[in-house]
Amino acid sequence: MKNILVTGGSGFIGSNFIRHVMEAEPSCRVVNLDILTYAASAENAQGLALSEKYVFIKGDIGDQPLVEDLIRQYAIDTVVHFAAESHVDRSILGPAPFIHTNVLGTFSLLEATRKVWLEEKFLADGQARFHHVSTDEVYGSLERDDPPFSEITSYKPNSPYAASKASSDHLVRAYIHTYGFPATITNCSNNYGPYQFPEKLIPLVILNALAGNAIPIYGDGLQIRDWLYVEDHCQALLLTLKDGRLGETYNVGGGTQPSNLEIIQMICSIMDENFPTKAPHASLIRHIPDRPGHDRRYAMDIRKIQAELGWSPKWTLESGLRKTVAWYLSHLDWVKAIQNKKDFKSWMKQNYAVRLKEGEE
Ligand code: NAD
Ligand code: TYD
Repeated sequence: MKNILVTGGSGFIGSNFIRHVMEAEPSCRVVNLDILTYAASAENAQGLALSEKYVFIKGDIGDQPLVEDLIRQYAIDTVVHFAAESHVDRSILGPAPFIHTNVLGTFSLLEATRKVWLEEKFLADGQARFHHVSTDEVYGSLERDDPPFSEITSYKPNSPYAASKASSDHLVRAYIHTYGFPATITNCSNNYGPYQFPEKLIPLVILNALAGNAIPIYGDGLQIRDWLYVEDHCQALLLTLKDGRLGETYNVGGGTQPSNLEIIQMICSIMDENFPTKAPHASLIRHIPDRPGHDRRYAMDIRKIQAELGWSPKWTLESGLRKTVAWYLSHLDWVKAIQNKKDFKSWMKQNYAVRLKEGEE
């Protein structure tokens, strides 16, 4: 692993991963290919640009000639593919960009790497590796007593986002099977931590609590997610790149599965300690109409990655949430720059204004 192409490295997990890999593997060169959608911030990669081992390319994963050139120019031996549209609620209100990037973009990226690595034989045999970063949402929703998702659980994606990721997983799988394409896949549960875009639940709760705004909770709030601190995910990805068996899928999860209501209450208590207010922050919680097709429960069986790669999450939910709250409170300039953008304001209005009113009735 000498020259890594990271796609979507200016987003939440991608930027955390680049930081992680550059620290753990200082001799690696990292090329970050990102089109900089609304979800990316140039600041996410701030500091990285100072390193001569880091290269930023603004571009589309769907631009096949560009990707082929990058692979040749930088002698890319490893691709870690994060780039995606990633917000379920946006996929419900407008699925087209999800199909465009997550399905067609992944297809184009696979074609570019297949051509240069397998057809042109640009690298010596056994040197190339493609890692596809995916989600637990491809497996659908669990009932209360169902066992957690394992690597052989059948796919039942329920949102346009989940269906687009499932589709990209299937393409990677088919390339492995048909062309002997050197790839691995990880399906990971909900991440949280520094640099997560504030439309996602955890940063949204922290920032609304801080501003004294309503904390919107969909439906009864008893939906369950399997939360993982982003640094643990980055570690799992690096281990998979190093020791994961080609052709395999590994499930990654945090092993803590609170309901949305429980995790929001935990964040509110941490906020109470940091910023005591007259009324506790939990008094800001508002139940609003549910997300259409909302998956009830996710949980991951992580025994395979534990047994094969020796990975386990290191952060508890409590320690990860404390670290995350502290990060947001000390990066309010980063937050403000996003909150002041027209797209963010119009998204908040589009997704919440009517629902908050309906929630009051
Ligand atoms: P994000 O939305 O924060 O970042 C996505 C990045 O991809 C952005 O920087 C964006 O500009 C870039 N991008 C989008 N379209 C692109 C294109 N056509 N070409 C180049 N770059 C493009 O997403 P995230 O939360 O960091 O998620 C990263 C990956 O991890 C996604 O594939 C997602 O499905 C997967 N994942 C996320 C979670 C989670 O909880 N966030 C959990 C499991 C898996
Ligand atoms: P989210 O962070 O959007 O991740 P995902 O949908 O990929 O799991 O949401 C996490 C959970 O929180 C999910 O069950 C939806 C719920 N949620 C709310 O209740 N209110 C909100 O404002 C948001 C954004 C999410």
